[in-house]
Amino acid sequence: MNEEIILKTTNLHKTYAEGTDLEVHALKGLDIEIKKGEMVAIMGPSGCGKTTLLNLLGGIDQPTEGEIFIQGQDVSELADIEMTEFRLHNIGYIFQLFNLFEFISALDNTVLPLLLTNISRLEAEEEAKMMLRQMGLGDKIFHLPNQLSGGEQQRVAVSRALLMNPAIILGDEPTGDLDQDTSTEIMNLFVSINENYEQTFLVVTHSEYIASFCHRIIRIVDGEIVDKGDEQK
Ligand SMILES: Nc1ncnc2c1ncn2[C@@H]1O[C@H](COP(=O)(O)OP(=O)(O)O)[C@@H](O)[C@H]1O
Ligand SMILES: [Mg+2]
Repeated sequence: MNEEIILKTTNLHKTYAEGTDLEVHALKGLDIEIKKGEMVAIMGPSGCGKTTLLNLLGGIDQPTEGEIFIQGQDVSELADIEMTEFRLHNIGYIFQLFNLFEFISALDNTVLPLLLTNISRLEAEEEAKMMLRQMGLGDKIFHLPNQLSGGEQQRVAVSRALLMNPAIILGDEPTGDLDQDTSTEIMNLFVSINENYEQTFLVVTHSEYIASFCHRIIRIVDGEIVDKGDEQK
């Protein structure tokens, strides 16, 4: 494994509704180091802060305190618009409920991030088609999400996340809505992407089985890391 640290947090805190009666201290000083090419599972009980952590790492939300370094860049120093650009090129996000747009095709869903760059629509569609073909969806590119199975929808979401060739892929319970066989298929897909392209994966999951596909498991309880995990593979 590569020794380069691709993602690092220092003393990461998140407090929601700070200073009010509703204050929730969701993350309490997390220090995390992830190596390039690592596949890491993040586990912990419901409400322990997993989604909060991913949202901070993905730049969807801001920490209350602490730093996040992605590929050596302190992302808290980026202005909103720079963060959007940085995220687009460095981070792919995959959600439990796929987050596909209901009324547009697999192809149009996949092509979306590329439309935010300078390449032409035609070129963007060619790249998206190639990615969908690699994902085994070549004959379904014009299907709407509801004409695809759960596993196929998640593969569209994976295609969209991969299209920008991000260094890091964040998955928030990406198999949470899939049956066992389809979950296995998606995790095997992640493993082969990880092995072939050295993409780094952080996968939040409730399932020890899903976590077993990863190199190590970080366990969080009540906003604190209780186990950083040893490399298992
Ligand atoms: N937008 C928010 N406003 C206030 N509290 C929140 C918000 N999002 C999450 N929380 C709280 O922060 C804690 C961690 O939530 P979350 O990160 O969603 O946990 P997990 O993903 O591990 O289930 C919970 O107590 C939750 O209720
Ligand atoms: Mg969550």
